[in-house]
Amino acid sequence: MILVQHVCKTFRQFRAVWDLSFEIGAGDIFGFVGPNGAGKTTTMRMMATLLDPDYGDIVIDGVSVLDEPEAIRRLIGYMPDYVGVYDGVEIREYLEFFAAAYRVPVERRQQLVNEIMEITDLTSVEKKDVGTLSKGMRQRLCLAKTLVHDPKVLILDEPAAGLDPRARIELRLLLKELQKLGKTIIISSHILTELSDMCNSVGIIERGIMLKAGRIEDILAERNATGIRQQKLFLRVLGSPDAAVAALRSLPDIGGIELDRGIITFTFMQPVESNPGLLRELLNRNVPVVSMAPATANLEDIFLDVTKGIIA
Ligand SMILES: Nc1ncnc2c1ncn2[C@@H]1O[C@H](COP(=O)(O)OP(=O)(O)O)[C@@H](O)[C@H]1O
Ligand SMILES: [Mg+2]
Repeated sequence: MILVQHVCKTFRQFRAVWDLSFEIGAGDIFGFVGPNGAGKTTTMRMMATLLDPDYGDIVIDGVSVLDEPEAIRRLIGYMPDYVGVYDGVEIREYLEFFAAAYRVPVERRQQLVNEIMEITDLTSVEKKDVGTLSKGMRQRLCLAKTLVHDPKVLILDEPAAGLDPRARIELRLLLKELQKLGKTIIISSHILTELSDMCNSVGIIERGIMLKAGRIEDILAERNATGIRQQKLFLRVLGSPDAAVAALRSLPDIGGIELDRGIITFTFMQPVESNPGLLRELLNRNVPVVSMAPATANLEDIFLDVTKGIIA
């Protein structure tokens, strides 16, 4: 759906984005993660045709940002990281204004705005002045605004920033809802955990360079297939875990031992092929093992691998 090809952008001498190439599949929720200043906003602005790449191209649904910026603007809805709204306008009026600006025919407008307010959960507050909204409501309104021309692709720059936990959960549900409607969504954040339960694909960017990008399940599968050199394991034993902790300490290639509510977590610096041997060692030391299992890898593990340079 979206192809980013060797995109570079410099501001004077400064390389904001360097040789960025990645792909986003149709219907994906793509989490764009990286610290402040990594180049996320710059990349998203180039996708939205607000900024031209110095080199490379971005192709969205077969349309190039360089060749047909007008067509791109019809395809995408862009929500910038800071959105101002005007005071003295009600939510419904605000959305109808944008529907008019996008040339939605008069007779379609009211119905469209109803539908959008329904999805974004704004129906009950349609009479509220947009200047008086909570942060969460304002984010939903801005998202509603980007839906007015029914774009296939949503580009949302840090939409979860500054939201309280409840508003964040609502945003996540809303994005899932939009995904079901067939939209492809790009959502950026400098906070990894903000995205971990929202997206199915990810791009990790640092200092203008993409460290890793792809579907989370593919990256995790690749991670297992390449016999990653270390694994996080859970260990449960009968009775007191103290002897087990002591036994682990005496074994090679074991680190990061932690004990939480009777369950031991540790890092084993060997591939999975060595797990039976480890189990045998523990049993030989009379550790009453109930279970030893891998902690399921997730977005955070990918992030740790990449930023440590294990996968690059
Ligand atoms: N218009 C600009 N002029 C000069 N430098 C810029 C401009 N826009 C962004 N930058 C720089 O480019 C880098 C990437 O910025 P940005 O894309 O906003 O990062 P992010 O959104 O990941 O925080 C930053 O170091 C920023 O200071
Ligand atoms: Mg930014």
